[in-house]
Amino acid sequence: MVVYKLLSKLFGMKSVIQNQKYVLTFAFLTILSFGCIAQPKGETIYLKNCAQCHGSDLNGGNATSLIDGVWQYGDEDGYISRNIKFGIPNLGMPSYEETLSDSDIRALVQYIRESENKVGATPPPIPEKIETMDYDINVEIFVEGLEIPWAIDFIDKNTALITERPGRLRIVKNGILQDEPVQNIPEVLNEGQGGLLDVAIDPEYNENGWIYLAYSHALKSQNGDRPLAMTRIVRGKIENNTWTNQEVLFEAPHENYRPTRHHYGCRIVFDPWGYLYFSIGERGYGFEAQDVSLVNGKVHRINKDGSIPESNPFNFNDSAGKTIYSYGNRNIQGMAIHPVTGQLWATEHGPMGGDELNLILPGRNYGWETITYGKNYNGTIITEETHRPGMEQPVLYWKPSIAVCGLDFYCSSLFKKWENKLLVGALKYEEVRLLDIEEDRVMHDQIIFKGYGRVRDVSTGPDGAIYIVLNDPGTVVRLTPDKN
Ligand code: HEC
Repeated sequence: MVVYKLLSKLFGMKSVIQNQKYVLTFAFLTILSFGCIAQPKGETIYLKNCAQCHGSDLNGGNATSLIDGVWQYGDEDGYISRNIKFGIPNLGMPSYEETLSDSDIRALVQYIRESENKVGATPPPIPEKIETMDYDINVEIFVEGLEIPWAIDFIDKNTALITERPGRLRIVKNGILQDEPVQNIPEVLNEGQGGLLDVAIDPEYNENGWIYLAYSHALKSQNGDRPLAMTRIVRGKIENNTWTNQEVLFEAPHENYRPTRHHYGCRIVFDPWGYLYFSIGERGYGFEAQDVSLVNGKVHRINKDGSIPESNPFNFNDSAGKTIYSYGNRNIQGMAIHPVTGQLWATEHGPMGGDELNLILPGRNYGWETITYGKNYNGTIITEETHRPGMEQPVLYWKPSIAVCGLDFYCSSLFKKWENKLLVGALKYEEVRLLDIEEDRVMHDQIIFKGYGRVRDVSTGPDGAIYIVLNDPGTVVRLTPDKN
């Protein structure tokens, strides 16, 4: 009754609200919602437990941002919950199994998601035109509605293949995405950063019809343990929209499979001499990148049929080492062959502040995790060393990390001024850079596309257009110069 009187006085609503019951309900709801605003559970728990490392605005500090859309250890709620519950001990992410209940953790994940949505997680609509120093550019949506597209390659002018990480190979015919994915492709482990990764068309496709895939492959679980996984390379053909004639070109020895779900690599490229190169990330085992008897943290080279080239630098080594071309590579997700020199270039994700562009030479050691320009994500030093004799220096490194992903030399005359320049994609910074390379140096670096979503892959199409694969929402855009 008191509340009723007070409210009616306060709001002068006596004449409007005749029924006391409504007023009481209104008062009750007001108090309740006020209580909720003052004490949202997720936020309270966050500020108490997490803010000192991930920042009070969730945007990072001593540890990585939780709202930049980059999830290194899995982007689904289940992974995020698990990372909170069990921690990532070797990186300094504590476990909260003892101190937080499952419902606390659910509230935290919800709070992180809400905060993520607030910071413009949805990029602005893609414009029809953009300007760069050299060209005014028309931007078209080539395909949309994809789910985590990872890579694009072209069979011919009218046919593109796109991988979707959850495990689908899609065909785009005359600019139209075919509804039905290619049937019967190998089963992939769609967890964390794993899934269906790269697709590459044989340079002699017209004669042989081969298509190459890279994906994360899981072994059968032993005694109900978490299945072990590693990057695997296969080739096959597409007939009647079905994957056939599959050959496994590379499968790691099973003792080299790992339980983690990140840092798989993996790009596939061919050089002018017919060799096939692919990358495997260190799978979260940094020190193993230095061990040339293990496949992780390496660039590998094989013949297109899976046999091992005589001239491979570690051919004398045990079987695991024979395919290795370079080592000490953390997680390469961009590889391209220079159209004139035939040399292999690669971009690799570093830790905080250590993304690298490297010219990959046979038998060389690229230093991870003995030397690096990056720090651990919690800000602790991995190593003071940035140089060491016998270890290669990057041609360029990005500090802070832009999260390099996707790489291609622009090799057409449509954008005449950009011929043989290097297109570099970036997830975190949502951009495509164009680098002028002379011999083994970067002479100039400009951003040509930025702010429309995380970039997974960049590619010169057979029509000379530049194709950019955006992660979220899953879209491929096509850039052509404006003639006017
Ligand atoms: C002592 C510092 C510290 C505290 C406290 C901490 N974290 Fe972390 N957290 C880390 C580090 C370091 C990582 C690893 C980051 C990396 O390598 O990307 C991490 C990673 C994570 C990840 C995985 C991020 C990804 O990219 O997949 C999540 C999710 C996360 N933390 C949530 C939380 C939450 C929620 C709390 C509070 C309950 C919390 N953390 C408290 C240091 C901390």
